[in-house]
Amino acid sequence: MKFKLLAAFLLLSSYIQAQNVNIIPQPKSVNISTGQFIFNNHATIGVSDTSLIKLADHFRSEVAKAKGLILSMSNNEATSLIDLVLVNTPQATGAYALKITSQRITITSQNKEGIFYGLVSLLQLIKDQPQGDGTNISLSACDITDSPRYQWRGLMLDEARHFFGKQKVKQLLDWMAYYKLNKFHWHLTDAQGWRIEIKKYPKLALIGGIGAYSDSSAEPSYYTQDDIKEIVAYAASRFITVIPEIDMPGHATAANKAYPEFTGGSVAGYPNFTFNPANEGTYQYLANIIKETNALFPAHMMHLGGDEVAFGVKAWSLDTAIAHMMQRKKFEDVGELERYFFKRMTDTVISLNSKILAWDEATGSDLPVGKTIIFWWRQNLPGQLHLALQRNYEVVLCPRLPLYFDFVQDSGHVSGRKWNGVFNRLTDVYNFPDRQTPADELNSKLIIGIQANIWTETIGSERRLDFMLFPRIAGLAEACWTAPELKNELAFNDRLKASLKNYDSAGIYYYNPFDPAYHPEAVDFPPRVKEPKVIKYSRHHTSKKSHGKTARKDKRGAGRSHKKRK
Ligand code: ACM
Repeated sequence: MKFKLLAAFLLLSSYIQAQNVNIIPQPKSVNISTGQFIFNNHATIGVSDTSLIKLADHFRSEVAKAKGLILSMSNNEATSLIDLVLVNTPQATGAYALKITSQRITITSQNKEGIFYGLVSLLQLIKDQPQGDGTNISLSACDITDSPRYQWRGLMLDEARHFFGKQKVKQLLDWMAYYKLNKFHWHLTDAQGWRIEIKKYPKLALIGGIGAYSDSSAEPSYYTQDDIKEIVAYAASRFITVIPEIDMPGHATAANKAYPEFTGGSVAGYPNFTFNPANEGTYQYLANIIKETNALFPAHMMHLGGDEVAFGVKAWSLDTAIAHMMQRKKFEDVGELERYFFKRMTDTVISLNSKILAWDEATGSDLPVGKTIIFWWRQNLPGQLHLALQRNYEVVLCPRLPLYFDFVQDSGHVSGRKWNGVFNRLTDVYNFPDRQTPADELNSKLIIGIQANIWTETIGSERRLDFMLFPRIAGLAEACWTAPELKNELAFNDRLKASLKNYDSAGIYYYNPFDPAYHPEAVDFPPRVKEPKVIKYSRHHTSKKSHGKTARKDKRGAGRSHKKRK
């Protein structure tokens, strides 16, 4: 009996295996049938609509890069071997069907996103296959229908702490597209650097762009407006929306270095961290910056930050002009002033017909429902998520645990953050949000998606950026896309294992969770090891105290001028 059960189980699991294909994220439905499509240079592409030619061209160049095969376009859709067809049946954005028979490959969708994602799935199948004899690749006949779980499938990159530049960002966008991620949140300003050219205020880039987290005098690094347009167009051709973040009223040190007339003052550890809310000029200055920035990003979405103002807000309490303003306006505390400031700046965004995006601190700022998206990042404050939903805000889930990719991912790693000893393994990312989020919140229609954030205080090189991103980006993709009832971590691990060769051939320095020694941890800034306390006993018995004092002084001297995000 036992034997029969085992045999049945093995049969079933081999059937499930056979019904699968190596695509990440796992598609909604996959049926393998008999037969093979032989993919080679003869595989012409036809389109039902000229608006699809660009997508076909993108696919052709990816196939040429991956396999050296040169595909041609066909003028006759009916006789082409790969057929891209836009249909009228209503479908979710990004949904598609991919059918492979021994004769033909057909991708259908109601929208261009769907055709693009069908091509991405096909590309993954092609990359998964070894080159056959000569240049023939055999693809199993199959029927795939697919659609995303979430419409917001995001990744945030912090280029204020360390700057990576256009080429790396484009590579990142390529991988986002490969994993069907569609929102690139670009953290362009912070205490350590201002990375976007603003023509009206050139010193923001030229002076505010000087420095990085690891080197406060690093050459100015920033994106010109032409660079930004290039990146936005590059992303758009991959169906990725780019959202800029101009952080305010905190995290403003770099801007204040360029235009000190708008600083909100300093407190120990947080010099010039905020903008000055009592100076009317500040609002006009920031409105001008918002206008110029908004014009560069066709998505009409602006992230205004709004996080961690509390770090620098003590300086507001010490400023007499700010105290007068608070009296005039009858504000009870600086929190009320902070909300006033944020509301005024977000009104500017609304007046430009753009949506406001903000970290979860903004939940209390009385922002307009329907025009605001809240990014819930403080997993230790579930009440913020609850409140945002209660107030009917759309929400993107990006809690530190498990979606901050600057966190350590393996117990053996030494560089990166932890939260009370907890860190973010691939498995934690993969299983988000279903295991961690209360069901009533998870089922809320207001949760529009999820996003991983890569803060770069400990990431100063492309190598380490890769190491922190790959393969967690693959886990993120499946968390964003695949329906919860279809998620299967063992099957995901098998697909991921089989696809690591693609990272190798792209020269990605990734963490291999199946073989942690494969690439040793990439460490850019070795964490400072605490000196063991050496207690010297002098004859006068005074050295213990003075040792402590010296150690504290050294720490301050060598310390960074700006602290990490919490
Ligand atoms: C954040 O990590 N301060 C949003």
